[in-house]
Amino acid sequence: MPDLSVQLNRLRLPNPILVASGTFGYAREMVAYADFRQLGGIIPKTVTPQPRPGNPTPRTVETAGGMLNSIGLDNDGLETFIAKHVQPLLSLGAPIIANVAGKNTDEFVAMARRLDEFPQLAALELNISCPNVSGGVDYGTDPGMAAEVVSAVRGATSLPVIAKLTPNVTSVPLIAKAVADAGADAVSLVNTIQGMAIDWRRRKPVLGNGLGGLSGPAIKPVALRIVWQVAQAVSVPIIGVGGIQSIDDVMEFLVAGATAVQVGTANFYNPTLATNLVGELAVLLTELGCDRVADVVGTLEFPVRR
Ligand code: SIN
Repeated sequence: MPDLSVQLNRLRLPNPILVASGTFGYAREMVAYADFRQLGGIIPKTVTPQPRPGNPTPRTVETAGGMLNSIGLDNDGLETFIAKHVQPLLSLGAPIIANVAGKNTDEFVAMARRLDEFPQLAALELNISCPNVSGGVDYGTDPGMAAEVVSAVRGATSLPVIAKLTPNVTSVPLIAKAVADAGADAVSLVNTIQGMAIDWRRRKPVLGNGLGGLSGPAIKPVALRIVWQVAQAVSVPIIGVGGIQSIDDVMEFLVAGATAVQVGTANFYNPTLATNLVGELAVLLTELGCDRVADVVGTLEFPVRR
């Protein structure tokens, strides 16, 4: 049996298969379907300091090879998250990574301080990349702001810190370097790609908020490209996310340079997929003669460009 555990600086996970924020509720909705103790990690929906009602409906629409969402960080706020969800999540037996978003650095820091009271959490993932709320990606598109928030959060908590980055910039490696230098233990690559769907007969966007974030298999080639580019440029551990729906997809992200992966959109139509992938990964690594996940991470042989 290969060793599936992975190390992302201060964060150790039992295996590299996680479920992405916003695609798995608070996990209790999924309890009937799978044994979550097998997962490498569960990342519940983004929490904000105060409750948010979210964006106008419709908030989701299926597209070719994926979906657009514009949820608008609908959640009940940090104190309700703590009162209702943290203990049940921790009791599931998988590492729990809380995903947080603030409007400014002070809000991120206040949330990090409060969640630091729960050392059983595995890590904090900073959502500095939501395309669906005003200011949501500001931190993720500016290297200086991204570094500022990561550095401030590092000072406010002893939990490992992951920065979830947006693909909606010219150079993700630039932002990844900034957050790595500021002390991020890992980066999650990538959040959704901004897009839109149009009902041309009504001359209106389909989504209530006009624009949304594209996810699913349609964005996998973009996510792979970004994971590979960041892996070449920065030595921060990468959690790959974007369109994963099979063990081959997992392997592609690992070979490109990701140490772990998150299953996202696929959870909506197959809530047991991520759990199944853990077993499939063990079988595949055994077939390949690999003792550990690290044996395949970053092994892409890229053609020499002329
Ligand atoms: C949303 O709540 O609008 C999606 C979250 C995200 O893209 O970060």
